[in-house]
Amino acid sequence: MSKIKAIHGREVLDSRGFPTVEVEVSVADPRSSSEVCTGRAIVPSGASTGEGEALELRDGDPKRYLGKGVLTAVQNVNERIAPSMIGREFQLQSLLDDALRDLDGTPNKSTLGANAILGVSMAFLRAQALAQRTPSDQFIAQHYGSPGVTLPVPLMNIINGGKHADNGLAVQEFMIVPAGFDRFSEALRAGAEIFHRLKKILHKQGLSTGVGDEGGFAPQFSGAKSHEQALVAITQAVSDAGYKLGEQIFLALDSAASEFSDGKSGYLFEGQTLTSEEMIGVYSQWAKDFPIISIEDGLSEHDWKGWDLLTRTLGDKCQLVGDDLFCTNPIQLKRGIDSKIANAILIKLNQIGTVTETLETMKLAASAGYHAIMSHRSGETEDTFIADLAVGTDCGQIKTGSASRTDRIAKYNQLLRLEERLGDRARFAGLKFYEKFKK
Ligand code: PGA
Ligand code: ZN
Repeated sequence: MSKIKAIHGREVLDSRGFPTVEVEVSVADPRSSSEVCTGRAIVPSGASTGEGEALELRDGDPKRYLGKGVLTAVQNVNERIAPSMIGREFQLQSLLDDALRDLDGTPNKSTLGANAILGVSMAFLRAQALAQRTPSDQFIAQHYGSPGVTLPVPLMNIINGGKHADNGLAVQEFMIVPAGFDRFSEALRAGAEIFHRLKKILHKQGLSTGVGDEGGFAPQFSGAKSHEQALVAITQAVSDAGYKLGEQIFLALDSAASEFSDGKSGYLFEGQTLTSEEMIGVYSQWAKDFPIISIEDGLSEHDWKGWDLLTRTLGDKCQLVGDDLFCTNPIQLKRGIDSKIANAILIKLNQIGTVTETLETMKLAASAGYHAIMSHRSGETEDTFIADLAVGTDCGQIKTGSASRTDRIAKYNQLLRLEERLGDRARFAGLKFYEKFKK
C-alpha cells in the first residue's frame, strides 16, 4: 500500500440539502514518484437512526443549516486526522482504520465524529485501489477474500412512510424484491417498470405521486387499513407491469418500528396501541396474504423479548433484518446471534464508522449464517461506494431506494457498470437467498 500524501475534508450537501462530509485522500502513485492517486468519498446520513450508532458530529450552530453544519467534523479531518496520518504508510486498510480509532479514542467515535473518520476510511480505500490500478469493487474483494462477482438483488423502496414521508404510514418502507431473474439489469428493469405502473395506479386513485426521501411514492392512504392498501397497490402494479408475484417479484418491509414504539412496550399503529404479540400477529397475517420475504426492524430495538417471539414465529418464513437493532456493530450483532434474534443484518457504513469494522460485522454475520444487506441512508449523495462494497463482498442484496432520485439511481447505475465489466463472470444473487423462506 502507498504512503499517504494528503488528506482534505470539505462540507458538501446531501440529498436532503443538509451538510455532510466529503474527504479526499491522496497516496503516492507507485508508478511515478511525482504523482499521487486521489480517492474521494462522501458520508451519508440517516433520519431514523438507531441509538447504538456511532456519533455523527454536527456543529449545532442554529445560524448555519439549522444547526446541522459539519464544519467541526471537517476541521477534525483537516487539522487532527491529516497531520497525524500524512507521511504514514499503512499496509492494510485495517491498520489505517485502527489508527483512526486510536486517534479518536472513544467507542462511538465521538471525539472526531464518525462522519469525519468514515470519510477518511472510504477515501483511503479508493485511493489505494487507484494506486493499484484495481477497480474499488475488485480491490474490496481481494481484501475481503471474496470472488467479487455477485450482483445483489435490489430491495426497492417504492412506497415511503414513517420518518421518510409525511403520510401517516407507520411502516417506513414498502419494497419490491425482483429476485426471480437471471441478471441484475433485468431485475432492475422490472423494478423500474413496476414503479411506473404504481404511479399510474396511485394517480387513478387520486393519490399524490410525489416522492419521499428515498424516491418512493408517499401517498396519503385514507381508511383504517392504510398499510394493506399500500400492499394491495403494489401487488396491482406488479401484475399491471406483467410480472409474476411470488415467482419473480417478492415484497419486503422496513417497519423501523423503534420510530412508532410508544417507548414502553406498545406500538402506535393505525390509530391503536398494539402489543409486540399483536404486531407479530399483523406481520403473520400480511406474510400469509402477500409474498413478503423480508421484514426489517419489525419491532423496536429495545424490544428484545418481542424480537425473540418474532424470530420464533416468522424466522423460517421471512428474512428478519436487524437495522436499528444491530447498528452494523459486531458486539450488538454477536449479542443477537447468541440470543438467536433475527436472521439477517442491514449494513450501513456510517452506523459503525470505518470500512474495517463494517467488513468485520459482515464476516461475523456470514459465519453465523445471517444474511447481510448492503444499505444506503435516507440522506444520500452521488457517492456509489455501497455498490462497490455489495459486489466486492458478494453479500447478495442491496437496499438503495426506489427508481427515482439520482442519489438512489447512482448506485443502480454503478451496479449496471459492474455487471457489464464482469461480463460472463457476473452472477446475479437471484432467488438463492429466499429459497428457504418460500412457502
Ligand atoms: P435512515 O433509514 O437512513 O433514515 O436510518 C434507512 C433505514 O431505516 O433502513
Ligand atoms: Zn431500517
